[in-house]
Amino acid sequence: MGLAWGMTRISVSVDGIAYVDEVEPRMLLVHYLRDRLGKTGTVVGCDTSNCGSCTVHLDGRSVKSCAVLAVQADGHEVITIEGIAKDGELHPMQRAFHESHALQCGYCTPGMIMQSIDLLAANPDPTEADVREGLEGNLCRCTGYHNIVKAVLTAAADAKAAR
Ligand code: FES
Ligand code: FES
Repeated sequence: MGLAWGMTRISVSVDGIAYVDEVEPRMLLVHYLRDRLGKTGTVVGCDTSNCGSCTVHLDGRSVKSCAVLAVQADGHEVITIEGIAKDGELHPMQRAFHESHALQCGYCTPGMIMQSIDLLAANPDPTEADVREGLEGNLCRCTGYHNIVKAVLTAAADAKAAR
């Protein structure tokens, strides 16, 4: 079947499932995830690409999905907050956020968790300052960040203990 006029075909893996879709060239990845695939766990908190609540992983690195076009994900792998639990078990970072009371309204949490996972992948043994710096692009209006930083440090310590 031919492409509809003005559309671009993309092949993308999202949370382990392969999709082939036709999208408008200017469609943002976050809108593709939410509106087309129903992945509403990834949220939009601003229109200026600065809150980080839309953060997902693109080929294993965190990106703000409101700052990436869906067509840029063509041929790549996207993991959202909905794809990180395994076999019904929370991801260790989700567990750490829960146990450290690192959320209140929860709006920033999906993006914070995706960013935090990437942060530890790049630096498995961060200092508190490293964590604060790594989360600078993710805004939280509720928690004052203290428990978020604690959650990330706890997840890092747990991962270290398990090595
Ligand atoms: S919605 Fe993407 S940075 Fe705010
Ligand atoms: S918990 Fe409400 S914005 Fe972070």
